Amino acid sequence: MASSPLFAPSKISRINHLFKSCFPHCRSRSPAAHFGQATGHLPSFFPFPLLVHPRFKSLSAASSTSDVVSLSLHRGKSGEEDLVVLGIETSCDDTAAAVVRSDGEILSHVVYSQADLLARYGGVAPKMAEEAHSRVIDEVVQQAIEKANLTEKDLSAVAVTIGPGLSLCLRVGVQKARKIAGLFNLPIVGVHHMEAHALVARLTEKDLKFPFLALLISGGHNLLILANELGHYVQLGTSIDDAIGEAYDKTARWLGLDLRKGGGPALEELAREGDPNSVKFSTPMRQHKDCNFSYAGLKTQVRLAIESTKTDMENNPISSASSEDRRKRADIAASFQRVAVLHLEERCERAIEWALKIEPSIKHLVVSGGVASNRYVRSRLDHIVDKNGLRLVCPPPNLCTDNGVMVAWTGIEHFCLGRFDPPPPVHESEDFVFDLRPRWPLGEEYSQGRSEARSLKTARMHPSLTSIIQGSARHQP
Ligand code: KG4
Ligand code: ZN
Repeated sequence: MASSPLFAPSKISRINHLFKSCFPHCRSRSPAAHFGQATGHLPSFFPFPLLVHPRFKSLSAASSTSDVVSLSLHRGKSGEEDLVVLGIETSCDDTAAAVVRSDGEILSHVVYSQADLLARYGGVAPKMAEEAHSRVIDEVVQQAIEKANLTEKDLSAVAVTIGPGLSLCLRVGVQKARKIAGLFNLPIVGVHHMEAHALVARLTEKDLKFPFLALLISGGHNLLILANELGHYVQLGTSIDDAIGEAYDKTARWLGLDLRKGGGPALEELAREGDPNSVKFSTPMRQHKDCNFSYAGLKTQVRLAIESTKTDMENNPISSASSEDRRKRADIAASFQRVAVLHLEERCERAIEWALKIEPSIKHLVVSGGVASNRYVRSRLDHIVDKNGLRLVCPPPNLCTDNGVMVAWTGIEHFCLGRFDPPPPVHESEDFVFDLRPRWPLGEEYSQGRSEARSLKTARMHPSLTSIIQGSARHQP
């Protein structure tokens, strides 16, 4: 792959270069109105004076920039020059890296899963997960760059997940990203993990335009968001306790399933053998007419159902179960899955109603995050969406579970609006404090959708991505 690093004679013309070169492509995917939003000086996350499209503001606003970025651009299939971005993801238990071009081509995609560790220890232990990330991060990133047939010098920028997630794990990815960005003088984009789950759908579905509705379902989060535009999200619902992925993982473990390929996939497979109406579980939160989620109660119901069988399923792997025992486990799995997904269906129906009232032009429901790779989930939600006159957009399963592609793509989307940090120093001091955001909401809560059944766990919560971006836009003179 040919590269053409641009070295600017001066700071200002460097920024001119960046704009002339990177916007033609980006403009085709982002309405021109977005450029008006990117006129702020964002605190800490985006300390680089924001690049402003010449139509909206004089470039002299950026003249205080002390960093000169050498930007590599690549000629893509369209003949236009494209950005090439490395994405790094270490927020939970997968170490992932990928290289993506701004025309949407995925040049490489590498994921190292810690499912083996999960199977052995029954959950994510932060210290162990951190060690596992540290062991493989160099190799995963190197493979991503090699598989893309590139070297670091060919990259335009590095994008990395900075939250939400486990601090110890996030740190490994951020440290690696800053090292590469420092050594190769690359701008860096800090990415919100859940935003990345949503935006990857814009990579796989070229017709997906803002505004859209998104259901994001993973191990740590259940979110229903109205995506107004890039960086502007309204949270219609969230989980008040456990997320659906956690409920799948625990149920799989209690049923004695083989967790080496992940609890969710193992449970989905067993559920196909069972009768989904055999065990009567009640659907969570029906009395709350909102879009929030709760899975703690369903987990308790599952545990009690297993206890009532008087079989120690957790400590007797399903591989050695009698056919009668296996059928019981399959019935519990299928019944759990039916109700867990029914809860999603009910919340989605209400969210569609709300979203269409707020924004009648919505045409799509995006469903993403690890649990969205489940075929039963996809087919049930497809039905709901169809009934309400929308279209379902679900990225392929390997882009629903954690991956570097979604991070690189989200980095590209923000980069195109001038939201990025300058290259870090080549040698970062030992005591440098990384900007990590373990608890970081994506958007502000929809005021009319509030209910008393909400999580009270707000301690050490970072201001939402949306409020940071909007706040910075307001401060722009
Ligand atoms: O998004 P993700 O890869 O990581 C987090 O951000 O948490 O989601 C992981 C979650 C896990 O709980 C995993 O069991 C679940 O997604 N998952 C599934 C399936 N594949 C992954 N749950 C149900 N069915 C699946 N096929
Ligand atoms: Zn995730």
